[in-house]
Amino acid sequence: MSILGGNEKEISIQSAQDEFLYTHKGHKIIDAISSWWTCIHGHRNPRIMEAIRKQTESLDHVIFAGFTHDPGEILAEEILKTTNNEFEAVFFSDNGSNAIEIAVKLAVQFFKNKNHSKDINRKTWIRFTKSYHGDSIGAMSLGGESVFTRIFRDLNFPSKEYKSPDCMNCPWDKSPSNCKVECLDEMEQDLKGQSDTIVGVVVEPLVSGANGMVFHEEKFLQRLRKLTQERDIILILDEVFTGMLRTGEWYAYQKAKIQPDMICLAKGLTGGSLPLALTLIRKEIVEAFHSENVNHAFYHGHTMAGSALACSAGIASVEILHETGKENISRIEAYFFGKKKVLEERFPHKIKNLRHLGAIFAMEVVQDIGPDEYLNPIGRKIRNFAMEQGVLIRPLGNTVYLTPPYNIRESSLDTIFEVLENILEKEFTQLP
Ligand SMILES: Cc1ncc(COP(=O)(O)O)c(C=O)c1O
Repeated sequence: MSILGGNEKEISIQSAQDEFLYTHKGHKIIDAISSWWTCIHGHRNPRIMEAIRKQTESLDHVIFAGFTHDPGEILAEEILKTTNNEFEAVFFSDNGSNAIEIAVKLAVQFFKNKNHSKDINRKTWIRFTKSYHGDSIGAMSLGGESVFTRIFRDLNFPSKEYKSPDCMNCPWDKSPSNCKVECLDEMEQDLKGQSDTIVGVVVEPLVSGANGMVFHEEKFLQRLRKLTQERDIILILDEVFTGMLRTGEWYAYQKAKIQPDMICLAKGLTGGSLPLALTLIRKEIVEAFHSENVNHAFYHGHTMAGSALACSAGIASVEILHETGKENISRIEAYFFGKKKVLEERFPHKIKNLRHLGAIFAMEVVQDIGPDEYLNPIGRKIRNFAMEQGVLIRPLGNTVYLTPPYNIRESSLDTIFEVLENILEKEFTQLP
């Protein structure tokens, strides 16, 4: 289980193929969220399964300190190529939270290794309200407060919180055409005279996923990059969700044409088959760790980091993305565009903020039972009703979203939207 308590009824899954899950009772369920955004090529993708099978014939795992192996080397090389070799090094781990922890620790140690007196007070981080970067304590310290993290707030390390960008609900009432990224004015003001107290900032580029699929404009990232670069503040982009083509480019930062200092990848990296995560690091940071001084080395070794089996799955997943990724994403994007119009016309008073980017679709249902937060009961009601109709969605409060596998059949997309329309036709109070 990944949730203890909370009254969630568990469904036992016996098998899976493509976008379908099959229960022990023989029910077929369409996985419209790629099992928490991981199975980007559908379940048990034959190419990935075969790559893992083949890898079992030579090497499963070897301690990834003082040793290396072909699958790890090849995957690192292939991933770096997808960034046009903008990064110098790849650090392996096994889940998204760890990829973030690694980036955070690298940023801290980078300043220590450089040992410049001007950086001695860099102890604080910048974080955004509607953000989520994982469940480890470091990752929680850098995310916004939510039902997932509130209870642990005493464990957080020092940070200054700023309002997240939210272009669907802009507090300044701006539209993309007249927005000057006012949401960063306060930060810029604060940074005057005290930017040398800040280590870094972590942000999900373009879409903040777990806290409600909150979208922002590329210009937010461009201004944030400028602000941080001018003040030597490390910019870490959490591409755990947005990476591997989810937004239509390999990485969302590429859409904004900025150069982050580090990016973190996990989730879709192995197509959801095996745990693997990467932290990609820019040259200037890597260089601060190459030294005769052994204390300058970065010691952070997760036992299963760089499993050869997981790396072979990652290589196969990257190959599939090269071959069919962009084409599939464009197909889904066009489909979402059409359905957005249909839903907006049919249910103007029941839904708002319909949005889509790449293979992400999201909207808020308008209701008055509870706050716009994860535990809003409307989310559970919609989830239960959809499940009865054979579709797995997992609303975030009143935000209903879809993140399907990139190769999902059109007939399955049709079914998902039929179910959404069935839900929207009902009075929400009638939902089970
Ligand atoms: C944006 C983002 N970052 C980090 C994480 C943490 O990843 P993991 O659950 O693999 O630790 C998540 C998980 O949902 C995420 O959505």
